[in-house]
Amino acid sequence: MINLGVNIDHIATIRQARRGVRPDPVAFALDAERAGAWGITAHLREDRRHIQDSDIERLSKTVKHLNMEMAVTDEMVRIACANRPHSCCLVPEKREELTTEGGLDVVSSRVKVEKAIAQLHEAGIVVSLFVDPDFEQLDAAHACGADYVELHTGAYANYTAVDLDSPEDAPLILLHDATLEIERLRGAAKHAIDLGLRVNAGHGIDYRNLPGILSIPDLCELNIGYSIVARALQCGFSTAVSEMLFLMKNVKSF
Ligand code: PXP
Repeated sequence: MINLGVNIDHIATIRQARRGVRPDPVAFALDAERAGAWGITAHLREDRRHIQDSDIERLSKTVKHLNMEMAVTDEMVRIACANRPHSCCLVPEKREELTTEGGLDVVSSRVKVEKAIAQLHEAGIVVSLFVDPDFEQLDAAHACGADYVELHTGAYANYTAVDLDSPEDAPLILLHDATLEIERLRGAAKHAIDLGLRVNAGHGIDYRNLPGILSIPDLCELNIGYSIVARALQCGFSTAVSEMLFLMKNVKSF
């Protein structure tokens, strides 16, 4: 069974729209756990556009498995070591992007990544690197001492996106590019496992494109945020989490 990690950044996005105290991402994290999520992911961005330092402090004391997403900077490593989440996922970060756009370029930032991993390990934190399904990046992740890689599924998700004129539950027909992308993700997962890495996946996963994701071998965890929060506006957060878990257990992979 693949674990579900629920990304609660967009609960904080709504709160920050008014700089208020509600909705409280910690309360929603606990709801997600009660609905069966294995873990909670929160990205402390350098610009603090959604999750705040105090959220990380509270989450790390409250939830069972907090995965702190973060850029590879001294400031973030210091905050992680002070709060000791269960795991950290290192991601690239650009201020102007709407969300994390590409995987971490581990090949060209190897010294910096290796140092951050060593510091996080010293604090007892499991480390994952968010990477594109690219063998060179996987080899570098392994060489740096990462425990996990999280495969970037955004390209596959983009190829399966529906437009406003299509019903949300339109049947998923994998177009050529989406099929190629799934093949890439499958090959990357296999390569990572052969290296001894454990493999998660995330970005753009939704209720409709899940079957392709489930065909990637040996995944430990899916990190999903946007689609669950968007669905929650229609049916409530706990139901949105439960529905995703139901599909993860019952949907047939391609
Ligand atoms: N994994 C990583 C590394 C991410 O940066 C994000 C987006 O914050 C996610 C997973 C979740 O992506 P989404 O919100 O599209 O489900």
